[in-house]
Amino acid sequence: MKAIVQDKYGPPHDVLSLREIDKPVIKDNEVLVRVHTAAVHAGDWLLMGGQPPILRLMFGLRKPRKKIPGFDLSGYVEAVGPKVTEFQVGDDVFGTCKGSCAEYVATSAKRLAPKPDNLTLEQAAGIAVSGITALRGMRNAAKVQPGQKVLITGASGGVGTFAVQIAKSLGAEVTGVCSTSNVELVRSVGADHVIDYTREDFTEGEERYDIVLDNAGKHSLKEMRRAVAPTGRLIPNSGTTGGKVFGPIGRMLRASMSAMFVSKQGAPFVAGERREDMLALKELIEAGTITPVIGETYPLSDTAAAMALVASGHARGKTLVAVARD
Ligand SMILES: NC(=O)c1ccc[n+]([C@@H]2O[C@H](COP(=O)([O-])OP(=O)(O)OC[C@H]3O[C@@H](n4cnc5c(N)ncnc54)[C@H](OP(=O)(O)O)[C@@H]3O)[C@@H](O)[C@H]2O)c1
Repeated sequence: MKAIVQDKYGPPHDVLSLREIDKPVIKDNEVLVRVHTAAVHAGDWLLMGGQPPILRLMFGLRKPRKKIPGFDLSGYVEAVGPKVTEFQVGDDVFGTCKGSCAEYVATSAKRLAPKPDNLTLEQAAGIAVSGITALRGMRNAAKVQPGQKVLITGASGGVGTFAVQIAKSLGAEVTGVCSTSNVELVRSVGADHVIDYTREDFTEGEERYDIVLDNAGKHSLKEMRRAVAPTGRLIPNSGTTGGKVFGPIGRMLRASMSAMFVSKQGAPFVAGERREDMLALKELIEAGTITPVIGETYPLSDTAAAMALVASGHARGKTLVAVARD
C-alpha cells in the first residue's frame, strides 16, 4: 500500500516521503480501515519535528517510533477482528489511529465511530481530534452555561471552529478571536462577536468573559487572565510555541501549577480519544447543530504541504489529506 513515511525528525519537505509499504495486519479487537481522507493538526506537526525535544523521551530519542503521520481519518471498514462487534465490512467510519496518512490502517474499534449520515467521508475526516478537544474544552473543562460570555482564541482553526459552534449550542454568547481574513469565517460558524487580533488586543480591553478558551497561546497566562471575569475561568489549551526544551509543554506545566493557586484559571486538559465523545459529536452534527469546517485538501503525495500549512499556525478549519480517489 501507499503511505507517507518518515525515518527522522525534521521539517515536512525534508522528512516525509511517499512509499510502498506492507498493509497492516489487524489484531482481534482491531478494524482494518481503507482510508478515504486523513486530517493533520498541530500535534502531528510537533511530533513530526520531534519538537519540543522533551517529547522524544516518549516518541523516540533519535528517530520517531511512529513512522506514519496523522491521527484523524475517515474511511470504509475493510475487515474486522473476531472480537469486534460494533462494525461490519463496508461501514463508513471516522476516528483516530496511529498513522492515517496511508491507504490502510489497523486501529482499535474503540477509536472509531460511524460516519454522521449527513456528511461526506471528506467532511468527516477532521472531526475526531479537534471536535473532541472542543467538546472536552467547552462541555467538561469550562462547563459552559447558557448566557455565559465565552471568548475563544484561534477561533478560525481546527479546534476553534468546533469550539465556537459547541459553545453556541450550550447557550453561550461567543466572541471569536482571529485575523482579518478569517473574521467572516468565524462569524459564519455562529460567533456573536469577532475580534480581529491584528487590530485589537482583547487582553487590554474593558470586556471581561466568564470563560476564555485559549487555543492560540500567544499571550502570557497572566495577560490572558486579565480578560477573565472575577468569577470566570481561563481554560489554557496548549499553544505551539515556547522555550527550546519544553516548548508548549512548559506553558502547560506552568498552567497546571498556577491553576492550583489562581481561582480564575483551570488546568490544561487532555482531550483523549473517547468513543462516547465521537458519538456525541455525530449526534450534534446529524442534528445540524455543528458542521465541520474544511480548509485546504492536499493529495497524499503532498502531505508535506498540508503539514507546512499547519506549521504556519494559520490553518483555516481542518486541513485534509485526500488518500483515496473517489
Ligand atoms: N488539549 C488537547 O488535548 C489538545 C488536542 C488537540 C489540539 N490541542 C491544541 O489546540 C490548539 C489549537 O489547535 P488547532 O488544531 O485548532 O490549531 P490550528 O488549526 O493550527 O489553528 C490555529 C489558529 O490560531 C489562530 N491564531 C494564530 N495567531 C493567533 C493570535 N495571535 N490570536 C488568536 N488566534 C490566533 C489562527 O488564526 P489566523 O490564521 O486568523 O491567525 C488559526 O486559525 C493547539 O495549541 C493544539 O496544540 C490541544
